[in-house]
Amino acid sequence: MTHLPIFMDIKGRQVLVVGGGELAARKVEMILKAEGRVRLVADSLCLALEELVDLKAVEHHARAFDADDLVGCLLVFVATDDEELCKRVAKQATEADILVNVVDQFDLCTFIMPAIVNRSPVMVAVSTGGEAPILSRVVKSQLETFLPTGLGLLADFAGASRDRVKAAIPDGSLRLRFWENFIHGPIAEYVLAGQSEAAGNLLDETLTKASRDQGVESQGEVYLVGAGPGDPDLLTFRAMRLMQQADVVLHDRLVPAEILDLVRRDAERVFVGKRRGDHAMRQEEIGQLMIRLAKEGKRVLRLKSGDPFVFGRGGEEIDALSSEGIHFQVVPGVTAANGCASYAGIPLTHRDHAQSCIFITGHAKDDKLDLDWDKLIRPSQTLVVYMGLYSLPMLCEKLIGHGADANTPAAVVDNGTRKNQQVITAPLGELADAVAKAEFLGPAVVIVGSVVTLRERLSWFK
Ligand SMILES: C[S@@+](CC[C@H](N)C(=O)[O-])C[C@H]1O[C@@H](n2cnc3c(N)ncnc32)[C@H](O)[C@@H]1O
Repeated sequence: MTHLPIFMDIKGRQVLVVGGGELAARKVEMILKAEGRVRLVADSLCLALEELVDLKAVEHHARAFDADDLVGCLLVFVATDDEELCKRVAKQATEADILVNVVDQFDLCTFIMPAIVNRSPVMVAVSTGGEAPILSRVVKSQLETFLPTGLGLLADFAGASRDRVKAAIPDGSLRLRFWENFIHGPIAEYVLAGQSEAAGNLLDETLTKASRDQGVESQGEVYLVGAGPGDPDLLTFRAMRLMQQADVVLHDRLVPAEILDLVRRDAERVFVGKRRGDHAMRQEEIGQLMIRLAKEGKRVLRLKSGDPFVFGRGGEEIDALSSEGIHFQVVPGVTAANGCASYAGIPLTHRDHAQSCIFITGHAKDDKLDLDWDKLIRPSQTLVVYMGLYSLPMLCEKLIGHGADANTPAAVVDNGTRKNQQVITAPLGELADAVAKAEFLGPAVVIVGSVVTLRERLSWFK
């Protein structure tokens, strides 16, 4: 280990900053956040520092550095291009046993600054011991993506609840189990989602139960998560986080293997998918299974393609959970219409083409399509059809039969956002034949409207 990692309490302590530019301003802001007192020595100041001086947030000396500036200081930061000055301040601070950091001059530093992920009061500091600061920044940005933004709220909530938890669960090992369940359970999820009232109510309920039974039950919950249309990069941060903490995942046929691979390795995987006329599990059975697993205390990830609330029956699934009092949360996903349109270079709305867009299902019942055709065929409107690949000939015929121009631009996007994405564009009257020749297997969406012509210029995904 090249450096000792410590977090220093500088509240009310004097810190010297030499330099008046942007880099110095960043150091000053950080010191003020940690409630230190700033003595700033610089002839001229950047705008940000001028404002802080005007607000009397710092003590400013508009002159050259003097050895007396070090008196009473706990730390020194030097942020200036003047090499001689850097060396002189570093030497004098070191001789006076004051820790010094010179920006971008590792050899002159007696302490270095880590890259930080700030979820105050939770702080993560990353350092490469001065060897590769860029690597620290890469690690930091990776941490930023998977540490929830509400982590600080969670720490505050846990801190504020500590005494009550101790009173309700005096036994140390039971209390430890409570905290483990807390961090991975619905109370923490409520806090992270900003629902502090729901979190408080559930904590009250849990503590009342715990002090009555002197036991700590782990509570199960369900995460209804949209996995998007296929490209794993389109998952939300929250989806990724919940995928890491689930005990069991119930997934559909359309969720690709690359996304399933991102679920916690030891989570149990249950395929509940559907294909035309072949249901691995009926809808009610899926609901019953989720309820049973959650009641067993499991964290159940219900992973659905696209967005769970767009032709995904997500509403029905959580309705079943709600009537059983199971805690759940819903994480939206990129729906196929949005994903396919973006990756095909077809804006769904565009000032010169369409001011509205409607999503419909083209799923035929008893070989019939029962749709409100007149509403679908309107000028300045884009129509997106889900589950319309097999009914495409009937769909095109009916649209034209109800007055749509056979020359209306149209497209079918097959396996949108995935590596094997294919797009066919054709006038509405010729689309079904073109798609039949291409032998698409789906999943696919149909897009109808003049926005489709924009693909000629806006196509980007190869
Ligand atoms: C049962 S619906 C589920 C929709 C999903 N909940 C959503 O928001 O995208 C299945 C239909 O979504 C569309 N779909 C899903 N993923 C797709 C993809 N990657 N490319 C094209 N269409 C897709 C197809 O129309 C497919 O038949």
